[in-house]
Amino acid sequence: MGTYNRLPVGFKSGSGIWLMDADGNRYLDALAGIAVCGLGHCHPALSETLARQGSTLVHTSNLYEVPLQEELAERLCELSGLDKVFFSNSGAEANEAAIKISRRYGHQLGYDLPIIVVMNNSFHGRTMATLTATGNEKIKEGFEPLLDGFIHIRYNDIPALEQVMNENSNIAAVMLEPVLGEGGVIVPDSGYLKKIRDITQNHKALMVLDEVQTGMCRTGEWFAFQHEQILPDVMTLAKSLGNGIPIGACIANELAAAPMTAGSHGSTFGGNPLAASVALTVIDVLTMEKLDARARHLGEEMLFKFKSRLQDIKGVNRIDGAGLMFGIELDRECSEIVTMGLERNILVNVTAQKVVRLLPPLVITDDDAEKIVTLVCEMVMDFLKGAKK
Ligand SMILES: Cc1ncc(COP(=O)(O)O)c(C=O)c1O
Repeated sequence: MGTYNRLPVGFKSGSGIWLMDADGNRYLDALAGIAVCGLGHCHPALSETLARQGSTLVHTSNLYEVPLQEELAERLCELSGLDKVFFSNSGAEANEAAIKISRRYGHQLGYDLPIIVVMNNSFHGRTMATLTATGNEKIKEGFEPLLDGFIHIRYNDIPALEQVMNENSNIAAVMLEPVLGEGGVIVPDSGYLKKIRDITQNHKALMVLDEVQTGMCRTGEWFAFQHEQILPDVMTLAKSLGNGIPIGACIANELAAAPMTAGSHGSTFGGNPLAASVALTVIDVLTMEKLDARARHLGEEMLFKFKSRLQDIKGVNRIDGAGLMFGIELDRECSEIVTMGLERNILVNVTAQKVVRLLPPLVITDDDAEKIVTLVCEMVMDFLKGAKK
């Protein structure tokens, strides 16, 4: 179906941070499949796991015990400080689980119509519930009727949250991304998540963090909430959890997970032995190569370079970053930069029409990082020189 406007390039193979097309051209992948291939393409440890597990056992069923899934759940709970995991196959499905948890939790509190507070400019997925939760009118067009039970407020606006919490006595959860990804790489004020934690706790509402894009070391900690030493009630993961093998996870504390009794939710594929074994290897490699610290330090250096080279350029409105997640917002629409990138053999993305977004693999070397900074700064400057406002 015509659901994508595809770029005129396709790839035949990949290795590390490079993708190769059928003619042998190499492209530096500064997007990593939209924050999926944190370990780059065809990491040897993952190829080995895929081959081994692929010839041992791929799928059984969640009707039976799945030891690799249990092992993965334990690792995720250890890393996050949460207690229980439901496995899905995508970010949207992980968020569906979080929404269902929030509603059940709300009903347990006696709310007939439990409300979930969500954010403007957020992105949570394309299923009907996650689409409703998403704060972008354009992607909802034509899919009405949407779901009841969501209130949108401004991101990074604590008074707005306080107001909505005080005006409604049936708020079951507040759901948000720790950094807006699709919304333009917007990093909230420091202390924002901590304040949300306090407010949700005072109102007996769950704090649900969508870490589908920010999780698994992307922002310089395993999970972005760890920058603020808080613990949400629910967190969702997907994308780089499987480095390209589809897997999602909804991770909750005992309180939030309690209403999810046998039969209340399910997934045929979720957390099957192949996906679970790959995710376990992803965690091993991230741990062994200390990629959380690496993303933090390299991210700071790259952000400093982007700022020093671009922030005084007319037409550059904002430069934001969290670990190896960067957004350079211009004063005009700039999707042309993606095509300029193809001409210079680098893959970048433009989101929210005006924001050049970079999500490079976490395994980039210092030289790769310098290449990315140099090429992106050149493209932004060339674009601004040549483009009409
Ligand atoms: C924050 C966030 N949540 C959810 C999703 C949806 O994930 P998926 O496309 O795997 O359903 C995305 C995808 O971009 C995302 O960035």
